[in-house]
Amino acid sequence: MVKMCCLGAGYVGGPTMAVIALKCPDVEVVVVDISTARIDAWNSETLQIYEPGLDDVVKQCRGRNLLFSNDIEKHVSEADIVFVSVNTPTKTRGLGAGKAADLTYWESAARLIADVAKSDKIVVEKSTVPVRTAEAIEKILNHNSDGISFQILSNPEFLAEGTAIQDLFSPDRVLIGGRETREGRRAVEALKDVYAHWVPEDRILTTNLWSAELSKLAANAFLAQRISSVNAMSALCEATGANVAEVAYAVGKDSRVGPKFLNASVGFGGSCFQKDILNLVYICECNGLPEVANYWKQVIKINDYQKSRFVNRVVSSMFNTVANKRIAVLGFAFKKDTGDTRETPAIDVCKGLLGDQAKISIYDPQVTEDQIQRDLAMNKFDWDHPLHLQPMSPTAIKQVSVAWDAYEAAKDAHGICILTEWDEFKTLDYTRIYESMQKPAFVFDGRNVVDPES
Ligand code: NAD
Ligand code: UGA
Repeated sequence: MVKMCCLGAGYVGGPTMAVIALKCPDVEVVVVDISTARIDAWNSETLQIYEPGLDDVVKQCRGRNLLFSNDIEKHVSEADIVFVSVNTPTKTRGLGAGKAADLTYWESAARLIADVAKSDKIVVEKSTVPVRTAEAIEKILNHNSDGISFQILSNPEFLAEGTAIQDLFSPDRVLIGGRETREGRRAVEALKDVYAHWVPEDRILTTNLWSAELSKLAANAFLAQRISSVNAMSALCEATGANVAEVAYAVGKDSRVGPKFLNASVGFGGSCFQKDILNLVYICECNGLPEVANYWKQVIKINDYQKSRFVNRVVSSMFNTVANKRIAVLGFAFKKDTGDTRETPAIDVCKGLLGDQAKISIYDPQVTEDQIQRDLAMNKFDWDHPLHLQPMSPTAIKQVSVAWDAYEAAKDAHGICILTEWDEFKTLDYTRIYESMQKPAFVFDGRNVVDPES
């Protein structure tokens, strides 16, 4: 039986390994993490993360060929294939702060693998990393182990949160990069065999290591660029009377452009788009390519512009002042069907409104009050560096309340901001909401969920 171990039981490690265990009953999969609380949650009835379909997959294989454990050394040492799916956040200090990827977690994972390995291993980069990270990892592994041979593969993950299980069951592609040597090719084949249990062979792409590493950053940059393009267009639509949904539909009808990922919004969020583009920008700068770096930087600038444009629109529409006005925020997660709030545009919007002294009442079906308060008290990029957590500022506590449903949040509010496209917001009784609000009542729909005709 092939033994697999994954370091990092987060949004990627958990679902990815659960699906491998489900699809490959002949593979033993152990997911380990330095956080005991996370492993406990994976072993409980309430899993560490909310993801549609995940409970069912985990229930089918947990205890059979899927284990969640804190005994990192034992399971890494016994594994034939070790996945590394640890966080790779943006550096907050030192060289490249605010742009470069912080590989501290990755490096400590690699050193641990080298320390405990007693047999040859394939080490798989699952985390998103700067191009040529595999070279550094190879050096760490080979200089710290005793005659054991390691093959490094890059196997970036393309799942999106909220649809992770669907994406893993039926991926557009699986990408595996390896060394172009006999041993490298053999390692690529071994990993390919795992995916071939359920992924059609023509969707499993193999490349060299650097292409695989860079393709992941490129894919996220291209996706985010589409959103910034349509969001930039939304500003012009608002200035000219064009309807951005109609423009996006007409543009996306061209089969060379395609219809997906052209929804104008309050801005993209999530743990990866911004982080990965900043990382790409830094790599371009380090390679003496300032024009290329500036091109990609613009994707982030437009995203920041879109978020502040939204706040400005709210304040200016409400007669240039929101001081002491109650504003209901519907949706705090960075997209629907997840409880994840990392880099959610709601944080910037709420901070902007709080800066103008609004009182905000927030409702999100999957985000706890604790999480919201922590997010609003944190500095940029600190969410992935738990040691730097800042205490909640007293002003923010006073001005922010969390409601148990949308109607409660909207009661007595002067305005509503819809910041996540949860399905339930499409079918709310907006007449009831309007009647419970202060007049004139405003709705700022950052996700195009309300149909103004109905
Ligand atoms: P996450 O923060 O949810 O999970 C990472 C986990 O790694 C944490 O539980 C942390 O405790 C653990 N960890 C850190 N150092 C460790 C170590 N040395 N040994 C064992 N465990 C350790 O992060 P995530 O969202 O799962 O992302 C992981 C990587 O995958 C990142 O590089 C990210 O860019 C990439 N990625 C994420 C997504 C996504 O949708 N979240 C999609 C594709 C790729
Ligand atoms: C994204 C990519 O889609 C995944 O392929 C990738 O693996 C992942 O990043 C990663 O590397 O972490 P994710 O961030 O989970 O996945 O979710 P997306 O569906 O891409 O949405 C990202 C943000 O863009 C959300 O805030 C979403 O609301 C916003 N968005 C998306 C728009 O504003 N408009 C759109 O048309 C699409």
